[in-house]
Parts: sequence; C-alpha cells; structure tokens
Amino acid sequence: MSDTISLEQIDQIASQIRSRTKHQPAVGIILGSGLGELASAVEDADVIPAGEVNGWPVSTVKGHQGRLILGNLESQPVFVLQGRVHYYEGYSMAQVGLPVRVMQRLGIQTLIVTNAAGAVNPEFEPGDLMLITDHLNLIGLGGLSPLRGPNLDELGPRFPDMSRAYDRELMALARRCAAEENILLREGVYAGLAGPAFETPADLRFLRLIGTDAVGMSTVPEVTVARHGGTRVLGISGISNKANLDGETVTTHEEVLEAGRILVPKLTKLVRAVLRSM
Ligand code: HPA
Repeated sequence: MSDTISLEQIDQIASQIRSRTKHQPAVGIILGSGLGELASAVEDADVIPAGEVNGWPVSTVKGHQGRLILGNLESQPVFVLQGRVHYYEGYSMAQVGLPVRVMQRLGIQTLIVTNAAGAVNPEFEPGDLMLITDHLNLIGLGGLSPLRGPNLDELGPRFPDMSRAYDRELMALARRCAAEENILLREGVYAGLAGPAFETPADLRFLRLIGTDAVGMSTVPEVTVARHGGTRVLGISGISNKANLDGETVTTHEEVLEAGRILVPKLTKLVRAVLRSM
C-alpha cells in the first residue's frame, strides 16, 4: 500500500465529493467504533458510501459503516465520517490520515474527533465521556507517521508544532456545554496504539505510569494531519470498557460496541451543544 499520498491524489478525491454535494463543510466530525448513530441527526444530508469514492480508504471493521455524510447539524455545515480506518486494517498511515486531508481541501476549519477507548484511569467507568486534553503518540514514537514522505508544503510545515494539539478554546467550550447539558465530562490523556490486539496487563500498567487516562487504536494519526494543516481539533473519547490492569477481566469488541449504545445519546447531545455555540 502506498506510503505517501500526493496533493493531486487528495484533490482528485475532494473533487469527486464536491461533484456529489452542494454543501461546503466547515466542521469535520469523525465517529468512532459504535458511535456512528450521530450521523442520523444530520439534516439535508448527502450520503456517499465510502466505497463509491475512488481512492477513499474503506473500513473493514464491524461498527464502522463507512459513509461520508455532508449536511447541516445545528446550522453548521458538517462533513461527518461514519466509520474511520485504522492502521491495523492494513492501510498505510498516509491512508489513515487521508480523510482529514480531503476534509481540509473541502474547507473544514475544525475537526471533532471521537473514538471508543479503554479506561486506564481507575476512576473512569464504561459509558463516561472523556475530553481529550492531550495525547501520547505511541504509534508515532514507534516510527509511524501519516506525515512521513515528502512534505506537502501547500498544506503545512515539515515539522508541525504539537504543543497544543487539542484546541484550548474548544476544550473550554466543551466543558461549558457539558455543564449546561448536565453531562459528566471526564478529562485526560489518550494514548494511541497500533492494535489490533488489546493490551496486556503489563502494557496497561506501563501506560498508567506514563500518564495515560484512556487507550485506543485511532485518533492520533488524524489529529497529527489536522494540526499539520492548521485545523483546530476537539477530541472526545467514549469510554467503552475498563482496561484490564489486574488481568482479572477480558476486553471484547462486543463490549466496546455495546457501550456505544449508552454513549451515543450523551455524545450526540454534547456535540450538538458544541456546534450550536461555536
Ligand atoms: N484498548 C485499546 N483500544 C480500545 C480499548 C481498549 O481497552 N477499548 C476500545 N478501544
């Protein structure tokens, strides 16, 4: 699989999407495992199956429908991606970051990224929402980056700053909206791993030691691409399970999808409130 993607390839995909919708999105929203239902709230929606867009990476994972939805949510023009792709599926890092690149070329200024994550912080419970305040780029520290290869100078710098990966104003807004909507919003650091195997208890104790609150297999590459291109990011994890630090419980994908049913109504309420006050 191609490890780098040119601006021409990105623009070719953007123009396919432009030809199928009149909407000009300002906000991109990526929906994580089991969280796809938020897409049904989009009004005046143009729905494009991912497989109909030449070059678009199509998700192979249960719980990821693989649809591009352009329309309005709380009067904001949005591009909702229902079903992302992950590195573990066999896609290159560049392909994992491609949807964000296309969103940028279509004009989005803000990215709201969501995921399902395991709670490493012992105070967090399945069904909690967590505002991502920062991330640990463990997949990147291991050498994998969606920015590897020739830098796309038109989009951003060779060495992008990541000191404020998650936008402070958007975090403040999310806190305010959660309080107004009576939603408990946890906060913490998301550690992004490659997966697909869940962590061993020793992995998890290590992750806790280095400051992890929640762990997952996505988000970090997309946020890296977003920040490279100057897109503001709001990140929200849906806590789907307690990570198994003591080795006494097991984590399953079914559990992750089941938690989505509790998380979706809360996440929908929060994202709507954020969009309303943006
Ligand atoms: N570990 C890694 N990824 C995950 C988890 C987990 O416990 N839950 C949901 N995604």
